[in-house]
Amino acid sequence: MKTVKIKDKEFAISISSDKIQNAIKQVASKINNDYVGQQPLFIAVLNGSFMFAADLFKNLAIECEISFIKVSSYQGTQTTEDVKELIGLNQNIEGRRIIILEDIVDTGITLDTTIAKLKKHKPADIKVATLLYKPEAFKNQFIIDYVGIEIPNDFIVGYGLDYDGLGRNLSDIYKIIN
Ligand code: IMP
Ligand code: MG
Repeated sequence: MKTVKIKDKEFAISISSDKIQNAIKQVASKINNDYVGQQPLFIAVLNGSFMFAADLFKNLAIECEISFIKVSSYQGTQTTEDVKELIGLNQNIEGRRIIILEDIVDTGITLDTTIAKLKKHKPADIKVATLLYKPEAFKNQFIIDYVGIEIPNDFIVGYGLDYDGLGRNLSDIYKIIN
């Protein structure tokens, strides 16, 4: 089996590039059907979603725009408080139909915060498209409208996802073995 070593950890191939591209084509096809004439604004959450956003975009046939944001964590005024801030939203989204692009939804905490912050800017609606989804880890209520591939609760790298900053350049997805 194809394996890679990143820093101190070993990973084995889990999802091939072909399977990823097929899943993306299916998500794109659904969005193409759902958003005819709507000119949605995609908001991709960096860093992890950059590959998914690029490949999804090549498969979209509708009129659409894209913008990129980051969700940064910093220590709030209370020492234990984890405050999240949106960086890079420099576009007016009022009245726009938004589709958030994520590499992976794990617990869903990041996305929950992102949705809440975006709602304050009064978009028409917000939907979510994620390449990967870990249902066993998900702890939230919001609906994930478009899912590429459901995966077990393993730590993975590749195709934009990293282990300590590395592994994003792999075109297949690998899961941790030890
Ligand atoms: P959540 O807030 O728990 O849903 O996780 C959000 C972020 O954690 C994702 O956008 C990823 O950047 C990162 N993440 C979650 N699971 C993995 C994984 O298996 N490998 C690499 N990064 C992950
Ligand atoms: Mg991410």
